[in-house]
Amino acid sequence: MDGKTIVLGITGGIAAYKAAMLASALTKRGARVQTVMTRHATQFITPLTLQSVTRQPVFVDMFDERDPSRIAHIALADDADLVVVAPATADAIARVAHGAGDDMLTTMLLATRVPVILAPAMNVHMYENPIVQRNLSILREVGFYVAEPGVGPLACGYTGRGRLMEPDEIVEFIDMVLTPKRLAGRTVLVTAGPTRERIDPVRYLSNDSTGTMGYALAQMAWRMGAKVTLVTGPAAKEPPMGVETVAVYSAQEMLRAVVERVPNNDIVIKSAAVADYRPVQAATVKIKKTDQELRLDLVRNADILQAVRAVRNSSTYVVGFAAETHDVDYYARKKLQEKELDMLVLNDILEEGAGFGDTTNRVTLYFADGAVLPLGLAPKLAVAGDILSHVASRCGATGHVNSPHTI
Ligand code: CTP
Repeated sequence: MDGKTIVLGITGGIAAYKAAMLASALTKRGARVQTVMTRHATQFITPLTLQSVTRQPVFVDMFDERDPSRIAHIALADDADLVVVAPATADAIARVAHGAGDDMLTTMLLATRVPVILAPAMNVHMYENPIVQRNLSILREVGFYVAEPGVGPLACGYTGRGRLMEPDEIVEFIDMVLTPKRLAGRTVLVTAGPTRERIDPVRYLSNDSTGTMGYALAQMAWRMGAKVTLVTGPAAKEPPMGVETVAVYSAQEMLRAVVERVPNNDIVIKSAAVADYRPVQAATVKIKKTDQELRLDLVRNADILQAVRAVRNSSTYVVGFAAETHDVDYYARKKLQEKELDMLVLNDILEEGAGFGDTTNRVTLYFADGAVLPLGLAPKLAVAGDILSHVASRCGATGHVNSPHTI
């Protein structure tokens, strides 16, 4: 988003006040935000608020021509990388759907050729009204993105669908739209997080994985146009937008969830830190302490990647992870070969900034054809983007300009 020009359209609904938060979030992310408000929007929030937050002039009047060398609504349309209308009222949606051009916002929308996101917000009955829904269908058909409103208490006193998508979710939606769709049409299965192996009703065996890398991979794969399923062990994280999330607990549950989904996926990325052992039997009641030493008998969990081998087809692209502390190159090559992977992502967890729970990562990619590619230290989301770009290149995903997502 850094360096992009985003036109923020604001129309006249009570959620207009949230547009200031969105403008602020986008500005902080390095975007140049050009605000265009309808007259009705100025009843709810002032142009000065938006001007102060974005440090850019705000447009309301269609005939407010400040630069004689350019026509304002055309210049706004041409300079934008993306337009987002938040909130979009039923009236604004109707006027845009039917080609109106009677104010700065609608003329700019008619003139622009960049992606447009509409974030509706209104009373639940208005939103469910077939006329509004038909207008949204018209707009979707011609390529507009619709950031669906959420369900919750509404300003009118009703509870239902009609709440403006939260500003941080709109930011994520914008990131998705701006990301090249290198995985369009692909299905991707990602596993993430630790597994937990029950000892008794209050205790378990697990590891330090937080799931951050796997969630970043799922999020980036969605942004890149894939249909994504995330099978996750217990991780204290919000499910990524647009991703089908399947929560599991133990390695055995993860095994079942993965095996049944592999045949429906083109790409399988196993970033979960699966427990290799589980107690032979979980106690059904809490184990009480005694004066004796306690011995815990463990049994091996099945290797999920071995099971994936049995159900994958020849074109499934399988990526494994290896978290190592020593002889990292040796173990990386060994796992790549033994688990018959297309790519192995090596994580030296003793390296600075590359451990469990860090926000950054530094990994090395090992490919089945013998190629080895170290990547630099970067935030996990950026590392996820790099890994997936290599996956896309290697598995022949070409991608399309337009996203298949309808959120
Ligand atoms: N993995 C798996 N099923 C297991 C254990 C691991 O599918 N029961 C997968 C992980 O998701 C990862 C890869 O295997 O993609 C490597 O995991 P890791 O724990 O590093 O390797 P192990 O094979 O368990 O080897 P070791 O514990 O001996 O290092």
